[in-house]
Parts: sequence; C-alpha cells; structure tokens
Amino acid sequence: MLGPTNRARPRQRRTTTGASPHRVGEHAIRWRDPFSSRSAVRTTIAFERAPEDHGPAQVVPTDIRVLWRRSSTRGAARRTLRVSFPRDADVYGLGEAAGPLRRNGRRLTLWNADHYAYDESTPSLYQSHPWVLGVRPDGSAFGILWDSTCRSRVWCGPGVLSVRASDADFAVYTLDAPSPRMVMEQLATLIGRPPLPPLWALGFHQSRYSYYPESEVRRIADEMRTRRIPCDALWLDIHYMRGNRSFTFDPDRFPDPAALIAHLHGRSLRTVVMIDPGLKVDPDYHAYASGVENGAFVRDHTGREYRGEVWPGACAFPDYASAAVRSWWGDLYQPLISLGIDGFWNDMNEPAIFDGPGRTMPESNIHLADPEIGGPTTHARIHNIYGTLMVRATREGVSRHRPDRRAFVLTRANFLGGHRYAATWTGDNSSTWEHLAWSITMALNLGLSGQAMSGPDIGGFEGNASGTLFARWMGIGAMLPFCRAHTDVWTREHEPWSWGPAVEATCRRAILRRYRLLPFWYTLFHEASTTGVPPVRPLWFLDPCDPSLRGANDAFMLGEALMVRCRVEESGECRSPMPRGTWRPLELVECHDPDLPELWLRAGSILPVGPSLQHTGERPLDRLWLHVA
Ligand code: GLC
Repeated sequence: MLGPTNRARPRQRRTTTGASPHRVGEHAIRWRDPFSSRSAVRTTIAFERAPEDHGPAQVVPTDIRVLWRRSSTRGAARRTLRVSFPRDADVYGLGEAAGPLRRNGRRLTLWNADHYAYDESTPSLYQSHPWVLGVRPDGSAFGILWDSTCRSRVWCGPGVLSVRASDADFAVYTLDAPSPRMVMEQLATLIGRPPLPPLWALGFHQSRYSYYPESEVRRIADEMRTRRIPCDALWLDIHYMRGNRSFTFDPDRFPDPAALIAHLHGRSLRTVVMIDPGLKVDPDYHAYASGVENGAFVRDHTGREYRGEVWPGACAFPDYASAAVRSWWGDLYQPLISLGIDGFWNDMNEPAIFDGPGRTMPESNIHLADPEIGGPTTHARIHNIYGTLMVRATREGVSRHRPDRRAFVLTRANFLGGHRYAATWTGDNSSTWEHLAWSITMALNLGLSGQAMSGPDIGGFEGNASGTLFARWMGIGAMLPFCRAHTDVWTREHEPWSWGPAVEATCRRAILRRYRLLPFWYTLFHEASTTGVPPVRPLWFLDPCDPSLRGANDAFMLGEALMVRCRVEESGECRSPMPRGTWRPLELVECHDPDLPELWLRAGSILPVGPSLQHTGERPLDRLWLHVA
C-alpha cells in the first residue's frame, strides 16, 4: 500500500475563462494564459511580428469560449485548452494531414515526423499548424490559433477544440469575421503573406530519387523538349552529392556541374538541388568543419555535439535557432548560386534521424536559441520549428547572395507561418488512388493554414503508379499550386512518357492546360501575396452558406472563377455537388480528354488565358485570351 508520503501528488487543476481578452486586429482577439506571471506576451515564429495590442476587447463573440486548465507532468507545467464553438460549425485547417477536407472528429498530434507512406490514421506528419478555421451554418467564420511550438494533442470534437499542450504560458488568438475569406485575410495580418514565387516555379517540375549521372539528367531534359512536354525545372535528389554530403557534387557522377546547369539553362530548364540539414561528421568535409569552427551544431544535454544517423552516416545538425548559425548556413549556398543553381529543396528537416528516439533527436538536446526565439532551450520547444528555422536560414542566405531574384525554396517540415520562407510538398505519399484523393484535401487545408504553395509528389512517391493513375494524377496535380512529379529510388520510371503514348498525351494536355492558365496562376499568387487568400480554395469558399459544399473533397476552386472537378477513383465520377449559379464548361487544349479533370467557368467571371508554352519564359504575354462567362 502506498503511504501518504509517496502517493502521487494530486495534480493542480483550475479552470478559468482567462484573463481579459485584448483586441489585436480588426477581427482578432488575444487570450492570455490566465496562469502566466509574465508581464509581456511572447509570440513564436508563427507570427510575422508581434501583433499590436489595441486594449481590452469590448465585444467578444458570444459563441466562442476559451477555457484553460493547468496541470503538470513530471514537474513540467502543461496546459489543456478547450475552445468551444457552435456544434454545427465545420472545421478545417490544421495544416498537413491525410483524409477528408473537413476536420470534424479528427485527432492529431502536432509533432513534426517523417512518415513514409502515411495514411489517414497517421497522427503526425511533417508539419505542425496550430490553427483551425471554423465555418458556421450562416457562412460566418472563426479561427483559433494557439501560439505554442511544443507538442500538442488536438481533438476537433463536436463544438469543441481540445488541445493538450506540453507547454505552459502561451497565448490563444481567436478570429471572427462575416466570411472565411475575411478570417484568412486576418490570419495573414498575423502570420504574414506568402512571398510571390518566381514565375518559373509555377511551371511543371520533373524529379525522381535520383536522376544520375549527369548524362541521365541531360537525357530527361532532351526527352522533355523532343516530346514537347512543357517543363521548367529538373530536380537533383541526394545522389548528386559526394557520399550524401550537402553542398558537394559527386566528382564521378557530376564532374562538371557548371556545364550541366548551363546546358539545362540553354534548354530553358532550371535546376533545383536537395540540401539536407544533417552534415556528415567528417573533418575533411568543408560544411562540417566550418560548422565545428562556428560552434554551429546542436548539443546533447551534456553539452557535447549531438550526432545521429541520416543518409551520409553519423551527422551533426545545425542549430538554426541562432541567428549566427542561420547566417553561416545561408553562406554555404553561395558556391551553388555561383554555379547557377536556381532553387533549393530542404528535406529531412523534421529533423528525421534514423537512430534517434522516435526517429528524431532527443527532446533534451540543447539549442542556443536567440532571445527572439525565447532564449536557450531544449529540443522539445524547437522540434516543431526546426524545419521552419532551417528554411528561414536558407531563404535569407539565398536572397542575400542573389538579391536581384526571388528565391525558391521547397521544404518538407514546417510550422504555421513558415510559408513566409518556403513552399511545400506533401512528403512520401504512395502511388494509390486514395493518395491521389488526399492530394486535393491536403493542398486545400494547407492553403487554409497559410501555406499557399503546396502539392503532392505527382504519381506517388512509394510504389509504382499504373498509367491511368499517373495520367489522372497529372491532370489534377497540374491544377494544384506546386506541380512536380517525383518518385522513390525503388520505383519504375515515373516520367510522363513512361507508360506509352496515351498516358503521355494526357500528361502533355494536363501540363499545357497549366501553362495556358499561367496568367491566371500568377494573378492568384499575387493575390495570395497581398491578401493571404490561397490560390486554390474549397468549393464552400465561394458560397459558405451552402451546407452541401462543406464536405466537397474532389472538386475545388482556382480563385473565384474556375472550378476543377476531379475523378479520384479509377472508375466513377466527381462526387462533389455543383455550387449554385451558372457554370460553363471550359477546355483549353485541342480535345476533350476524359482523364483530365473538368474545368468550369463561373458566370460573371473573366479568365485570362495565355498561349501554349513549353516553358514559362518562352514568350512574353503578348497574346492573351479572355474567356468571359
Ligand atoms: C525523403 C524525401 C524524398 C526524397 C528522399 C531522398 O524521403 O521525402 O522526397 O526523394 O528523402 O532524398
């Protein structure tokens, strides 16, 4: 029997409606942690800047209540948050998770994780977005943002968002506005708007794990051009490196990278290369040696350089939480920029570590974070923003060394607000019809979480796609913000021509449609960069009062003008209802192709369409067709 002294101490519990809410924007209220002893409220990297406090909120939405409970686990303070809202509201957002668009009933854990061939039951993926967007039956909307970078377990129950955070003392923000669009605009005033990508990044990209040696890269470039598949970029995955060392080229496989890149530029193709965070422990490797010299690496709890296994073997990991380390990291890109490399792909930045606990680094590791990030702290607090801090360092370095061009960075891991630094893709999906369907819902929810530019590995990463699946995926992928085919090292060829002429013809048409829509894509990205409203939106965004649209998973909008209706099963039609109003079918290529999603133009809209192009720089926009419905 337990005696009174060793009986577990009862947890401290207190429930409160919180300290007085303060207005921090036209539609935004901040709710401070009622148990906080700090005088100032800290914001995390999710925020572009600390929001201005406009004083106590006189009016708060009566149907949203924020309740905190405090507890502790092994001496560490915790918070449980319950935000109640109308039971009949639909909820979206939460960033990256496979499954249906609507998040009602969903449980997730925000803890960035490398998950090969994930599915709907995967609790955590590569990114964490502590943000939910709700839509009431009357079409008005609200948002809930809890500003913690720590692990949180989330449940979107009926009329309640429950968050159990391994953290104490963080603020909650609630947004409330007459429309979802206004909530998204308000969110963008807090977390920032996405930068306008370079035009070429909106074209089609071809990748695989990996194209090597360089003759293979040239062959793919030749195939693209001779087969007249429009394309703007080829991607180099880890095999271009010397023994998987970031910032190096394998001298046998890629003896003259400058010549290769110039050759690709001559064919109007950009080059994007992968850079992983784990740097091989090798004193003769320049990136590692200079990292040691600069004291750049994360330390374990005893203060020693932390090491973990990734592709190159034992690696050390830059501590991007320090501004000095970010600046050092950014400078490593300079030689690659001098070679003419156009874009950078930061991967494995959850960070994924093969022999670490939970396939990442120990939570007790130490980061010498700057005061801006909250000062020196453990990995538990930095984990979810490790990828964001990495791409911040990358983007800042690339922009510093090539100030006259817009940077293009792609990341796998990220956190709310990280869209300011990088576009994203949905990681290691599988070549299945289910994953094709999730490509749509994942891009939509990422967009509703601030990440305007995302897309799947077209064709699927894990496994071999059938020709039909690949063709359909290209049709849909060409209508999503980031459009890249990519596949695993083990799979068969996954290029548009790999299944013969019929699939190739569908892929060509799919990509041509995208290029003809470039003026529209560019306008939509401009709109995103000035308002925060994503280019690709759920159907209900158009008519938030129509309850039948709330669960539309296989149709979506490009802006307000163009509806894309998809067939995400091998046989069968698009299941989403038609929104109210008058719609006109639209075709942009020479013939109707049943494997391509249907395009519908909304009556009352004007759609700008450009010429058929082989790449984004082929000709100026001197001819423009206006489709007027
Ligand atoms: C990871 C990435 C994948 C890449 C591979 C090799 O699995 O998600 O896209 O091809 O690493 O670098």
